[in-house]
Amino acid sequence: LSHPRAAGYKAEVVSSRKCRLGVLGSGKGSNFVALANAFSGADQIEVALVLSDLPNAGILARAQERGVSNRFLPPGHFRTKLDEPAERAYIAALREAEVDWVVLAGFMRILKGEFLRAFPLRVVNIHPALLPSFPGLAAWKQALDYGVKVTGCTVHLVDQGVDTGPIVAQQTVPVLDSDTPETLHARIQEAEHTLYPASIAALASGRVRVEGRRCVGWPA
Ligand code: GRF
Repeated sequence: LSHPRAAGYKAEVVSSRKCRLGVLGSGKGSNFVALANAFSGADQIEVALVLSDLPNAGILARAQERGVSNRFLPPGHFRTKLDEPAERAYIAALREAEVDWVVLAGFMRILKGEFLRAFPLRVVNIHPALLPSFPGLAAWKQALDYGVKVTGCTVHLVDQGVDTGPIVAQQTVPVLDSDTPETLHARIQEAEHTLYPASIAALASGRVRVEGRRCVGWPA
């Protein structure tokens, strides 16, 4: 074991496996595109699989164009979460793809219990506001209606609550007098497209880690 060549060989074998991301989305897939672009040709990270609960979601088409394995997986009979058979199917697909991190990119269903236990502290989400302000739906509109002058986006680990898990990173975005919900959302998304890949890279490399309720090590 102490032989230098044995040590070198081991290091090579360990570093040859890339960190594999499983991306879940229900929408147009702009965050998937940002991740795929950021990690295309990267030595350490790759998007291994894209799953969607909607058969015609843009995210599946964007994955297809890039040659990334993708699948529509039916969510079952609930409106805002996966039913039990669907939850098992999602877990099985992600395990089969040997995914290290589950990356939520506009996945419009709440993940709880069984799913989170299958990937403990390995499910990441991006939310279009500065949490804990404005959790839930259409957070950019909530911010505009409230009248805040600064909003932004938050990358966080997913826990049993809605948008409550440990915060990995945040980026501020100013709210302008001229903003409509659409212009503000577009500016927040622009920030997301940089923050999300940077956060995933920091998590995957181990530079950012969880200590209780806090993630430490950002910015790396
Ligand atoms: C993003 O704005 C994200 O904050 C929210 O869902 C949206 C997904 O957009 N969770 P896209 O499908 O990645 O374009």
